Amino acid sequence: MNIEKSHRNDDMPLLAVDIQNLTKIYNPSKGKTVEALNNINMKVPQGSIFGILGPNGAGKSTLINILAGLVVKTSGIAKIWNFDIERETRRARAAIGVVPQEVSLDAFFSPREALELQAGLYGVPKKERRTDEILEAIGLTEKANADARSLSGGMKRRLLIGKALVHTPPVVVLDEPTAGVDVELRRQLWDYVRDLNKAGTTILLTTHYLKEAEKMCDTIAIIDQGQMVACDATPALIERLDQRTLIITIKEKLHKLPDNLNDFSVTLTTPIKLTFEFSPSKTSTGEIITAVQKEMLTIVDLQTLDSDLEDVFIRMTNLNG
Ligand SMILES: Nc1ncnc2c1ncn2[C@@H]1O[C@H](COP(=O)(O)OP(=O)(O)O)[C@@H](O)[C@H]1O
Ligand SMILES: [Mg+2]
Repeated sequence: MNIEKSHRNDDMPLLAVDIQNLTKIYNPSKGKTVEALNNINMKVPQGSIFGILGPNGAGKSTLINILAGLVVKTSGIAKIWNFDIERETRRARAAIGVVPQEVSLDAFFSPREALELQAGLYGVPKKERRTDEILEAIGLTEKANADARSLSGGMKRRLLIGKALVHTPPVVVLDEPTAGVDVELRRQLWDYVRDLNKAGTTILLTTHYLKEAEKMCDTIAIIDQGQMVACDATPALIERLDQRTLIITIKEKLHKLPDNLNDFSVTLTTPIKLTFEFSPSKTSTGEIITAVQKEMLTIVDLQTLDSDLEDVFIRMTNLNG
């Protein structure tokens, strides 16, 4: 299903999207001012599947909508395929295809008409249009001429993806593509996104599911309340999420660590405080406590320290279920 022309060639820019000091302040006529993005810096390498992860209200859609030209930034720079969205708007716009978070389709157009209309809007000449190819790729060939109202929710979502592809953009952006989508369709969507990526398209997606970002993306940026909290290669980020500190206060006074505790990463911070660094996926708090008690030490207090990153992570996990 390689519907995209390959975007890989030698004169392509290194970065598909380059965001520098991007800030957005909404100033609604009613209600209070919202700083939706605060000085965001983000570099999306070409060819990657890049995930923007964050809880609801973090600013993900604002960022996407600025790239799409739907929201006007307050300050900072954004480039798509090296084209500045402000100074080279038309070329920047041509380099990106955006699949919005909300399903908004005109009920009066069939899938074929919707794709043709979209291609027209982008000025794609008739003979360069790939309507049949896109219909096939999004699994809507049979429904090509159907009334849009007769499409299921999943079909509508696929049609939205198809509309983002009519001008063969090198960068495709999906805003929460699987929110409210059932498991089977979710899988199909991801397979399709992977195919697009294999054919050379850079993918930028937003999600509030950590698991989803972990599975799909090679790089993950976490934003929370308009701020970039972390941005790293997925394995490194997951590793950082998997770190915790446990401080155990004991009744006895120690001058040296008992040998049996040396299997852990532990330091004696004061004669009555043992500080353990551990990965919750590998070691449980219970194991540490048992080991301490085995040394005939009396625990009088326990304290766990979570990184800021972990706070975000926990909040997001709560959102997931
Ligand atoms: N048009 C708008 N006017 C005022 N505030 C807005 C507008 N759009 C979004 N916001 C606010 O900006 C913040 C970020 O929203 P959004 O970018 O939609 O977050 P996300 O997509 O991560 O859920 C939220 O506090 C939201 O209420
Ligand atoms: Mg959103």
